[in-house]
Amino acid sequence: MPLTRRSWAEPFKIKVVEPVRLTTAGQRAKALTEAGYNTFLLRSRDVYIDLLTDSGTSAMSDRQWAGMMLGDEAYAGSENYYHLEAAVQKAYGYRHVIPTHQGRGAEHLLSRVLIKPGDVIPGNMYFTTTRLHQEMAGGTFHDAVIAEAHDPASTHPFKGNFDLEKLESILRDHPGRVPYISAAATVNMAGGQPISLENLTHVRALADRHKTRVILDATRVAENAYFLQQREPGQQGRPIRAIVRDLCALTDGCTMSAKKDPLANIGGFIGINDSTVADEISNLVVVFEGLHTYGGMAGRDMEAVAIGIEESLEDDHIRARVGQVEYLGEKLRAWRIPIVLPIGGHGIYLDARAFLPHIPQSQYPAQALAAALYLDSGVRAMERGAVSAGRDPLTGAERFPKLELVRLTIPRRVYTQAHMDVTAESVYCVYEERDKVRGLQMTFEPRFLRFFQARFTPVNS
Ligand code: F0G
Repeated sequence: MPLTRRSWAEPFKIKVVEPVRLTTAGQRAKALTEAGYNTFLLRSRDVYIDLLTDSGTSAMSDRQWAGMMLGDEAYAGSENYYHLEAAVQKAYGYRHVIPTHQGRGAEHLLSRVLIKPGDVIPGNMYFTTTRLHQEMAGGTFHDAVIAEAHDPASTHPFKGNFDLEKLESILRDHPGRVPYISAAATVNMAGGQPISLENLTHVRALADRHKTRVILDATRVAENAYFLQQREPGQQGRPIRAIVRDLCALTDGCTMSAKKDPLANIGGFIGINDSTVADEISNLVVVFEGLHTYGGMAGRDMEAVAIGIEESLEDDHIRARVGQVEYLGEKLRAWRIPIVLPIGGHGIYLDARAFLPHIPQSQYPAQALAAALYLDSGVRAMERGAVSAGRDPLTGAERFPKLELVRLTIPRRVYTQAHMDVTAESVYCVYEERDKVRGLQMTFEPRFLRFFQARFTPVNS
């Protein structure tokens, strides 16, 4: 019988392996209790398949590891900084490059320089650290993403798009008070959903008309470009690196967590075209991060980022990376497990509201689901719902977002198809037994970014 389709395989082979450990149900129950039902508080040795995040968890290539040996650990003017600067300029096109220790370091400096108290920052959905730095600089974040982004079942192909009317009304209502529009490539909190080039072109035009800037969160811009290559009219067949350049060219600058797309374990940067803003950030970086030619990174890490940027833009790489996420998602979809659609770029997002309809949002169903999954198999996922959304800084009230999700985040180049199968089967088993999952109450709540360190216990029922 002739084959109707041929499989593709990862565009790499494995040179170094790291053992992972299966635990018993008893060990997992103990570890989860000790961690206060928060997967961020588990020890990694107690985790079997770690899908907490795709941040800093990539497997580096042999070229990146070789580059690490070329670390120039000079305090000032490290050769690796110039490699990084050249890689950023070539890949993303920004004129000035200021390194930071990771993405939130970039967000901190950019927010401090651009935002004044009372300013308003519209964006295509919030991200936890991004919004916090905007708020800490005295600004207020205004959500201007399309309504479909808040609906897990909507199959809109560009759920990262701005609602242009909403954006325009925010700009009109706050003349002179919008320092920049915050545009994320693949919107993390919406499920890793892309913004189209067409939409970003309109955003650019609105920014020009209202004399403000567009700042890109470029953390997953290559993954965004992949979706445009697959879905956006006119983008089929174009190289990922060309689409990435086009996306960046519509913006005035970016913040980057080099722990994601650029395949490094640590690092970040700001790319910015305006020389005056670049000078101000360069000055501030020495206060908070380190000299402007290392910004909190070792020379070897800057080299790994520079090489990783190049590798992240290879079409083969990005197809396999998003392809693995799609493989896991399609398995779950075939079993009718509620996930965010379309399948996103860096992970599968379980719809905890639909999964656990018996748990009210005030009892954190996504947190409870992540805990149940860990108990079942040792797979570690992350809550992306009410716990992540935190509290309104003015009223102190809890924010209950429409999306109550659990993210199974796939590290880049780390796990195999068999790991995806084991993960899917564990989700299936928890789904079969979902009636037994109980809600949680918070027993400890930190002031900032509470999801990282909060503790919980099951609600008595
Ligand atoms: N922007 C986005 C879209 C992110 O996903 C992250 C981090 C950051 C900024 C901040 O970068 O961690 O290097 O300081 N996201 C991680 C995650 C933590 O798991 O999604 P960072």
